Amino acid sequence: MTFTLGEQSALLQPSTVGAVSVANRLFMAPLTRSRADADGTPSSLAAEYYAQRAAAGLIISEATAVCEQANGAYMNTPGIYTDRQQDKWAEIASAVHRAGGKMFVQLWHVGRMAHPDISGFEAVGPSPIAADLVTHTPTGKKPLPVPRALTVSEIAEIVGQFRSAARRAIDAGMDGVEIHSANGYLLHEFLSDVVNQRTDVYGGSPENRARFAAEVVEAVADEIGADRVGLRISPGNGAGDMHEIDQVSAYELLLCRISSLKIAYLHIVSEPSAPAFAALRTQWDGTLVLNTPRTVDTDFAMLENLAEWGVISAAAVGRAFLANPDLVTRLTAGAELNEPDVATFYAPGPAGYIDYPTLDELVTPRSA
Ligand SMILES: Cc1cc2nc3c(=O)[nH]c(=O)nc-3n(C[C@H](O)[C@H](O)[C@H](O)COP(=O)(O)O)c2cc1C
Repeated sequence: MTFTLGEQSALLQPSTVGAVSVANRLFMAPLTRSRADADGTPSSLAAEYYAQRAAAGLIISEATAVCEQANGAYMNTPGIYTDRQQDKWAEIASAVHRAGGKMFVQLWHVGRMAHPDISGFEAVGPSPIAADLVTHTPTGKKPLPVPRALTVSEIAEIVGQFRSAARRAIDAGMDGVEIHSANGYLLHEFLSDVVNQRTDVYGGSPENRARFAAEVVEAVADEIGADRVGLRISPGNGAGDMHEIDQVSAYELLLCRISSLKIAYLHIVSEPSAPAFAALRTQWDGTLVLNTPRTVDTDFAMLENLAEWGVISAAAVGRAFLANPDLVTRLTAGAELNEPDVATFYAPGPAGYIDYPTLDELVTPRSA
């Protein structure tokens, strides 16, 4: 596949995202790569992997656990709740900055998507409703268990863990954090009118369902400054067996509650033609990043038009950046893109991680 971005393309123009100036509006979407050490420390290859992609306007890291209990959806995912993990994130931040890039760490709690064989902890969620899915555990594929409903005091504890993790990210030298409230993980589960069946202040009305995510955004903004905080949502996205019926109301209430904070950006995973996107776009007057879902092929022409028309501030792209460390150069040159190798998305080791060739390396291979 090829596509050419002209020099004047809106996606190639520099911008400011909260406190961070970015060289262009083509961001790298968060991508779990399952190569972290068993204790959640990012892989020794991660600094090279991210630095290779530093030409992205902003790199958003793979989802990163805010505490040990926040893990458990997949094996070998990283965390940012120990000094050892923080030290490795500091190396990654330095490598990306040396290469001229900017980077946010995506903070998550997997909620009901956890399997105790991976995390060592019982799965938790808004309500005891299991996702009808299987996950890869150390002993093979297993169905996800019925989660235990979190208590109100546990919710407050998790808000504090997002806050501490954000502090660690900034102390590690990262430019900011993205709060993961998308794709069927804990904060998204609370927003859902199907998965959240609580009858306390965290369930029922759209306002109550938005409360947990809003409290996390507020706590993290208070800790590191709102201009270093992004928020990712995916209204109506079926990932994580979510199937929300009302794909708008809780999100509207969430955006309304946090609007005065002026966070760095809102990141929406959606088809631009989706009614939820249109509704939330109208409501949000800050920086808006769009990532089209995994179920569709990236349409660079459409993203460029949306940026040109001012519908979006920036586009986040996942698999194309995974397979093309020099994506920006390739798009500028109209060069053929490398195809992502699905078999190595989550496989350990360097293959399919740090060995995708750049255009230069295709002319002069690395071994030459
Ligand atoms: C290998 C892989 C890992 C992913 N990991 C994450 C993640 O850690 N956090 C997240 O919010 N989304 C994750 N996603 C979703 C992507 O951010 C993105 O929404 C999706 O790939 C669609 O964008 P694309 O068509 O540009 O790849 C992942 C997707 C892939 C393919």
